[in-house]
Amino acid sequence: MKGFFIVMEGPDGSGKTTQIELLREHLDQIHQEYIITREPGGTVIGEAIREIILDPAYTEMSPVTEMLLYAASRAQLMKDVIIPALESGRIVISDRFVDSSMVYQGIARGLGPEVVSAVNAPGIGSYKPDRIFFIDIPEEEGLRRKKEQKKLDRLEQESIDFHHMVSEGYRKVLSGRPDVVRIDGTLQAEEIQDRIRREIGYLAGREQ
Ligand code: TYD
Repeated sequence: MKGFFIVMEGPDGSGKTTQIELLREHLDQIHQEYIITREPGGTVIGEAIREIILDPAYTEMSPVTEMLLYAASRAQLMKDVIIPALESGRIVISDRFVDSSMVYQGIARGLGPEVVSAVNAPGIGSYKPDRIFFIDIPEEEGLRRKKEQKKLDRLEQESIDFHHMVSEGYRKVLSGRPDVVRIDGTLQAEEIQDRIRREIGYLAGREQ
């Protein structure tokens, strides 16, 4: 099986991380080589940037600073992890990628998708996800789940209006694209996972 690039996207609390863990079990069972990474983070520099971005103490952070920090973390992740893995034929699974910036910074923060796209272009180059799984969930449900799990980070502490723009933004940015599979995030975790595994099986078959 040749390598390809899978991305999980969705609002906070959509269950991306749970799905990635279930996928890890499956890939281990079928002895498939993969790497799993996350944004922001996934490298030493990226994890340091993550601490800054998500720290609830930095309430004064400007939207432009925020966009640049996400792009900086991503550029390092491309260079250190994603490009080498894809070039050596591995499956790469990333918890979020540039569409998160398109939605959170481009739409919810209002910087515009063109600006976000231009700022991210030098770090990403011509690499593109083969499939983006968009786990779609109403923002109230996502935030309710997050509050049960942990202390909210700086982005999660934003207003419900912000999270509403994120949910709407995802539907706008990801709808009608052939690289995107939308899954109803209110389904049972097992049902969502079945859908993801089927799609990856199909991709793997096509690549062989
Ligand atoms: P995530 O790691 O999904 O949060 P958690 O592990 O706490 O569930 O994402 C962290 C936050 O960063 C999330 O609120 C979405 C936001 N984000 C952006 O605003 N822009 C981006 O480009 C990325 C990658 C994430």
